[in-house]
Amino acid sequence: MLQPDPSARYALCASIEHRAEAGIVRITSAGGDVQVEDDDHELLGRIVETLRACGGTAALAEILDRQGLPFQVIEPLLADLLGIAALHDVRHAWTYFHHLSANPFTVPPPLSEQEAYALDRWRPPAGQATTSVKPVATMAYARRSADLEAHLEAREPLDPKESMEQAIALAADTYRLEADEHRPLASGGAMWPLQFWAVGGPGDELDVVAIDHDHDRLTKVRTVTRDGWRGMFLPDPAVHEVIRRGAATVVITVDPRRTTGKYGNRGWRYALMEVGAAAHHIGLLAAERRVAARPIGGFYDLPMSKALDGGLPALLTVLVMA
Ligand SMILES: Cc1cc2nc3c(=O)[nH]c(=O)nc-3n(C[C@H](O)[C@H](O)[C@H](O)COP(=O)(O)O)c2cc1C
Repeated sequence: MLQPDPSARYALCASIEHRAEAGIVRITSAGGDVQVEDDDHELLGRIVETLRACGGTAALAEILDRQGLPFQVIEPLLADLLGIAALHDVRHAWTYFHHLSANPFTVPPPLSEQEAYALDRWRPPAGQATTSVKPVATMAYARRSADLEAHLEAREPLDPKESMEQAIALAADTYRLEADEHRPLASGGAMWPLQFWAVGGPGDELDVVAIDHDHDRLTKVRTVTRDGWRGMFLPDPAVHEVIRRGAATVVITVDPRRTTGKYGNRGWRYALMEVGAAAHHIGLLAAERRVAARPIGGFYDLPMSKALDGGLPALLTVLVMA
């Protein structure tokens, strides 16, 4: 049974029908109904006002205080509402969001700010050369989502090995620390919640490689069959065909525990913003290197995440064709 927490911020996803003359309050949500009956009209009125004020912007304790309603009085009702998912704790909005997008991930408890910053991180040796930067505007205009159909018509076959090497290089250069301890992307609070993967290689068994930016290393996690990997994507014929012919994939996943401890509900939003920046950065780097790349959001959430290591929700993929 879910216990209400006075320090939580709840949002009510239900309609409230208050029949004052009959002493009845009925709360109706997609997950079921709850009815309260009481002769004390004033008490029912306070309960209704409390529920109406649950909009995620104030802690439950503050709302109860305003209504002059003791927590114990409303606690059983709130427990019932949590049980039918009529109330949502907005600290867990990430979980709710993924539930809505058919991704059944449950987010583990967030790391505290101190724990997140204390994560072991690789530091580059001093004096390491940084990559030369070409004019950004030129590259931004040159950036294109590769035309997959045109690629399929081209006479030049794809090189699966080269595609995989380029995918790893693009992912690594998007997030890795440089010698001055800066990274190419902005990250809310410098908490770096993204995790990058590259999937590809020659043959029918593709390597699944984790690009560990915390320790500056590549880890081959497992292999996946080319057809199995293809099946992670929605049935877009061009997407399936370029993977069949050797395209590699960069996958960007998120570890929201890193940001939700510090930022609560905003943590996952920051991660979503960051993944867009990462995909764009990969596009710029690909344009600079004249490598064809295309962001692909059309994939099956849970199978894709499971094919990596199962622990992190996948947010976006980029196909890389060299
Ligand atoms: C978040 C995101 C998801 C995308 N998902 C797909 C996709 O599933 N399939 C696809 O063919 N293109 C996808 N694209 C590529 C866009 O269609 C493409 O960026 C857009 O048409 C603009 O073209 P340009 O990138 O050449 O400027 C995606 C792009 C973004 C940013």
